[in-house]
Amino acid sequence: MLKLGIIGTHWITDQFIDATVKNGHWQLTSVYSRNLQRARDYGEPKHATEFFDDLDNFFNDGSFDVVYIASPNVLHYQQVRLAIENDKHVIIEKPAFTNPDEFSQIEALLQAHPTVRLIEAARHVHTPLFAAVKDQLNEMNTVQGATFTFMKYSSRYDQVLAGETPNVFSPEFAGGALQDLGVYPIYAAAALFGEPDTVVYFPTMIDTGADGKGGAVLKYPDFEVTLNFGKIANSHMPSEIYGLKDTLVMDNIADMTEATYFDENQKAHKLDAVVPDNSMSPEVDEFTKVLEQPNDLNNLKSYETWFKLSRLVNSLTYSLRESAGIKFPNEQ
Ligand SMILES: NC(=O)c1ccc[n+]([C@@H]2O[C@H](COP(=O)([O-])OP(=O)(O)OC[C@H]3O[C@@H](n4cnc5c(N)ncnc54)[C@H](OP(=O)(O)O)[C@@H]3O)[C@@H](O)[C@H]2O)c1
Repeated sequence: MLKLGIIGTHWITDQFIDATVKNGHWQLTSVYSRNLQRARDYGEPKHATEFFDDLDNFFNDGSFDVVYIASPNVLHYQQVRLAIENDKHVIIEKPAFTNPDEFSQIEALLQAHPTVRLIEAARHVHTPLFAAVKDQLNEMNTVQGATFTFMKYSSRYDQVLAGETPNVFSPEFAGGALQDLGVYPIYAAAALFGEPDTVVYFPTMIDTGADGKGGAVLKYPDFEVTLNFGKIANSHMPSEIYGLKDTLVMDNIADMTEATYFDENQKAHKLDAVVPDNSMSPEVDEFTKVLEQPNDLNNLKSYETWFKLSRLVNSLTYSLRESAGIKFPNEQ
């Protein structure tokens, strides 16, 4: 059994824990919250036994093997650092870190703690349907680009309109559309097409000083990938990969439930893959294997692939942010 500690007591942590319960190889032992009573109220119904409101004590005294961190983005770096220093495996919510400098410092720390695994929770690139899309893409003779869209109105934008600054729209917390929903299409593009030559982001800025939505272009040697993402409007557009006469259409790049290949005669072929009830189950199932048997050669290969992808996404996200002149106060 993998013993689990958690940071973050919001709905995404519920969903992650549910995926670990469904997986069956996990036991939630330890909960950190800024408020001890909240840690108890959150963890006791889920059978956790250790509760902390001090981060150092959580990492020093907690009996867990793996920590799942779902805190505001700006806190990820320090919390991951502490975890690695205490030889805990880490599953960090996206975006793992806010700039390449943080990423390389963590990479150096990992070299000093070679048994520790650090995995970014990019749930959508671990699903069977995403794997089926990748296989179909490999079968396409010509690729002439793609358009990926992920835009959902956030209920927290109501707070912005009421004059507040929730974390996810706060530059102080490394929030904004690019850092939040933008990471999903960036991840998909990096996983499917690799590293582009150049990138540019055109954001729509909102009153908090964060980007609320925007469009980005990733320029590859032979084609371009257009990304359309945001948190202040709703889009019902699917995502597409363009062949010559053929096209691959996905209903949603981040929450894919259906993908269809239209062949050169425009005949539709629905890709066949299981869509789980809990969209975090596929990643949890894959992470479990790697964390249970980290030295197995296949697991090591998976881990290295995920880590490289995570580094690339970190660098692309930062370059996109730089291209739009968006700075975070903690970096100045
Ligand atoms: N994979 C996905 O589908 C998905 C979905 C949503 C979010 N996420 C990611 O998960 C992370 C958390 O997102 P979220 O929307 O849940 O964030 P959030 O609600 O702002 O905060 C998450 C948790 O962090 C703690 N927290 C909140 N404000 C804090 C502050 N000012 N200082 C210290 N701790 C604070 C709270 O726990 P306590 O009050 O118990 O301390 C809270 O439960 C982000 O990185 C986000 O990108 C991923």
